[in-house]
Amino acid sequence: MNNIYKKLVTCLESVKKSIDFQPETALILGSGLGDYADGIRIVQTIDYAQIEGFPTSTVAGHKGRFVFGYVKEVPVVIMQGRVHYYEGYPMTDVVLPTRLMGMLGARKLILTNAAGTTNPDYKPGDFMLIKDHIVSGVPSPLIGENIDELGARFPDMSEVYSGRMRSIIRKTAEEMGVTLREGVYMQLTGPNYETPAEVRMCRLLGGDAVGMSTACEAMAARHMGMEICGISCITNLAAGMSQEPLDHKEVQETADRVGKQFKELITEVICRI
Ligand code: HPA
Repeated sequence: MNNIYKKLVTCLESVKKSIDFQPETALILGSGLGDYADGIRIVQTIDYAQIEGFPTSTVAGHKGRFVFGYVKEVPVVIMQGRVHYYEGYPMTDVVLPTRLMGMLGARKLILTNAAGTTNPDYKPGDFMLIKDHIVSGVPSPLIGENIDELGARFPDMSEVYSGRMRSIIRKTAEEMGVTLREGVYMQLTGPNYETPAEVRMCRLLGGDAVGMSTACEAMAARHMGMEICGISCITNLAAGMSQEPLDHKEVQETADRVGKQFKELITEVICRI
């Protein structure tokens, strides 16, 4: 058996020892958005540190645990705190929790993140439905021996973010009176924020938002056939788009400011997709 798959199976068995729960939808919470999980009907939580072989997250503002429970009637598994490539983990570890949620039975995945905007029409506090993504400097999580148990060697990525889910989310936001942009997310490695020249590169390449996560998880989830959608919380103008230097505090503050609306949107989205 492939070593990466072996590690996944070890983690899966470790989780299954503590909980017998079949999630339908998986949700990954981005920076500053983590407290959504505290408000659901929680059945059980499992700290990442309790799971044998699991990469544990170090970034401030991220709790590291799975939350199992219900959003209205929908059984969900939520990652409260994700693993980032910039923490130094191999990319296969970064996507391990995503794959694990898929192996636990979740067929749908909602990705969220905090992102800077490279689009002059967007402003901090906006939400952006991810239409597609671009990566720069970020290796594919599928590099290495293919895990045949999960998916094909050369998986199609022509519709990573489900058109079906996107049209439901668009309609949901409209009914709720939530302004929702739709654009391309660009993942760079971080942990440093981009230079103004890199932000211009993102814009030139067609990126509307830039961040340090999500696309890698989407690739891994798509490889295993999950249906995916993604929503970015635009927390700041990307470097060089304003006179101000970037500060992680601003990211947290904006995420806090729009947190209530974000939670309401996510709840509706979970129920309708
Ligand atoms: N760049 C990269 N990642 C981010 C940003 C940004 O401007 N804001 C929040 N996450």
